[in-house]
Amino acid sequence: HEPAKQDQASSGDNFSRGGFILAAIGSAVGLGNLWKFPYITGMYGGAAFFLLFIICLLLVGLPILLGELVIGRGGRGSAASSLVRLSGKKAWGGFGVISIAGSFFILSFYGVVAGWAMHYMILSFSGELFSNSDFAGQFAGFNASWLPVLWQFVAMFLTAFVIYKGVSSGIEKFNKIFLPALVVLLVLLMIRALTMDGAAEGVSFFLRPDFSKLTGESVLVALGHAFFSLSLGMGTMITYGAYVDKRQSLGTATLAIGGGDLLYALMAGLIIFPITFSFGIEPGQGPSLVFIALPAAFEAMPAGWLFGGLFFMMLTFAALTSTVSLLEVPVAYIQEKLGWGRKLTTVVVGTLCFLIGVPSALSIGQYDWLTFGGKAFFDWMDFIASNIILPVGGFIVTIFVGYVWQQAGEEAGLTAAWFKLWIFMVRYVAPVLVLAVFLYTSGLLEL
Ligand code: PFF
Repeated sequence: HEPAKQDQASSGDNFSRGGFILAAIGSAVGLGNLWKFPYITGMYGGAAFFLLFIICLLLVGLPILLGELVIGRGGRGSAASSLVRLSGKKAWGGFGVISIAGSFFILSFYGVVAGWAMHYMILSFSGELFSNSDFAGQFAGFNASWLPVLWQFVAMFLTAFVIYKGVSSGIEKFNKIFLPALVVLLVLLMIRALTMDGAAEGVSFFLRPDFSKLTGESVLVALGHAFFSLSLGMGTMITYGAYVDKRQSLGTATLAIGGGDLLYALMAGLIIFPITFSFGIEPGQGPSLVFIALPAAFEAMPAGWLFGGLFFMMLTFAALTSTVSLLEVPVAYIQEKLGWGRKLTTVVVGTLCFLIGVPSALSIGQYDWLTFGGKAFFDWMDFIASNIILPVGGFIVTIFVGYVWQQAGEEAGLTAAWFKLWIFMVRYVAPVLVLAVFLYTSGLLEL
């Protein structure tokens, strides 16, 4: 046993039941749902891909999500110390540290995008965004300046402020305000999008099933996205799990988090495609979808500045409820490891993360020296975290829960039938599929 003084639980700063579910959904729902999910769904077969995504969530995503929550609640520590405590072996801490580093790396570039969202929210509300219709040029000009660094700082500052306040008065309170706000914005924007002339075409692009597009590649893309979308493999759900009440049902929580994430992804698609299709705009992908294609659509619609502003506000809230969960991972770890207080740890880790994010923020602009091997620093961070660390982290969880920690079932508190199903998935199905994702996303396997 680790010394009790390092125990998260002993600090007594835990989630309430509802607060935990909100915070976990807040972590899952993020930029991934808004710009990646709609795009890959449109590209890889519409409703057929959506179905595949649901299967991936059920077969691999939810079992690993439950595994992470169980590890956190059972270990009552950071993503490293929980593994050590539950296995009784120090070596497991090393695996935990890999995931913790993943959170740190994701946060460094994710915070940059959160900053873009805030900048665009203000540009849209003020109308400045529409003073010039060259949206690609505007986005490039913005990225060639230092403004992204300034906004990344704002995003990191807000994130750190929440973490500085702690679990119940920081993370929980923040999510209790911003997750409902996010839902209101989502519903409002969805109604606007679906009532536009030509909305049907967008909906059909998004949801028309095309089974001919389903390939080995689409399976791996769906799996990889199920992971990213549920915030797995990065120690996030282990860390949040450590603050959950012993009496809370983790099985029910897992279903609620998965369902919330799925619903959000679906609604995001029902906003983005009707809007772009109504104005005959090529949806594009990633940054260009949100920061170039959508502004063109907002420009063309009545009161577009308002809907544009609300859209970027939604993007900002979605991003911040995720960045908060990412920062908590290294903060919980360093606090334990060095015995520092939460406030000092938050300031130090937040500052470091901001600094590592600076080259990411600048590498999208004109700083060629920040591009190595054809990839900008930003894309390297994304590649290392999302394509390498994330599947490795997920694999570790399956092995730990499936083969190493014998009492995982007791902590999960499932009925016998659910337990059997869960352990089967975690032992035999998930590791194989996660390995396949790793080989594919790291470039070792080509399809
Ligand atoms: N789930 C978030 C999204 O879909 O945008 C991103 C994310 C958050 C990934 C936290 C990983 C993580 F640990």
